[in-house]
Amino acid sequence: MTLRNEAHRLLASGRESDVYLRSDGLLVKRARTGRDLVPEAELMRHLHARGLPVPRVADASEHELVMEYVPGPRMSQELDAHPWRAAALGRELADLHRQLDAVRAPEFLPGEGDLLHLDLHPGNVVLGPSGPVVVDWASATRGDRRVDVALSWLAIAVAELRPFKRLARSRLVRAFLAGVDDAVRQAMPAAAEIRLSRHHRDKAEVDAVNRLVASCTD
Ligand SMILES: Nc1ncnc2c1ncn2[C@@H]1O[C@H](COP(=O)(O)OP(=O)(O)O)[C@@H](O)[C@H]1O
Ligand SMILES: [Mg+2]
Repeated sequence: MTLRNEAHRLLASGRESDVYLRSDGLLVKRARTGRDLVPEAELMRHLHARGLPVPRVADASEHELVMEYVPGPRMSQELDAHPWRAAALGRELADLHRQLDAVRAPEFLPGEGDLLHLDLHPGNVVLGPSGPVVVDWASATRGDRRVDVALSWLAIAVAELRPFKRLARSRLVRAFLAGVDDAVRQAMPAAAEIRLSRHHRDKAEVDAVNRLVASCTD
């Protein structure tokens, strides 16, 4: 069945995907780039079965990933709407990383080492009724957990997510850092390289990334 035959509602349009709410209440993710969604679905099934807060997958094909719809704002939207919750949200983001620390990476993921999401920023966390849920597992791989944590740090410290207030941002970052291992600093150069190579970044952001990395390696 194609989406055209169904009553559906566009919920979100991310960087790479369109996400629809289907009439049966399930959510459909389609990659605009034509990327095969089966590996992402397989990983989500694996992690959901092991108790990680990941949406339950209902069905997947090359073109569509059908999953549980988690009602709630993104963590990034919550920061905009309720900036005074920044410290609590920073702790929640750190807590999600601790949950990832505790899970063994499945053998079928590429690379070697531990489970990495590689894009765990507040736009990929939905604050659902039973707590925060991590979406968008498309970039996941295996490697050094510190790099995953460092990428989240970069995302909240330098990204133009939304012009959320400077004070909220610094509270978010401080609370996040208090909840993760200090060894994250050693992984900042590697994380910066990944971040800057992934999409086009404007000069202001490149400068901000380089300043933060320099402050970690001093
Ligand atoms: N299972 C879900 N429940 C609720 N919202 C979701 C779910 N999956 C994705 N979303 C929403 O759709 C947006 C885009 O999906 P995402 O998987 O992040 O794709 P993209 O690659 O486009 O960023 C997310 O930021 C989130 O707001
Ligand atoms: Mg996303």
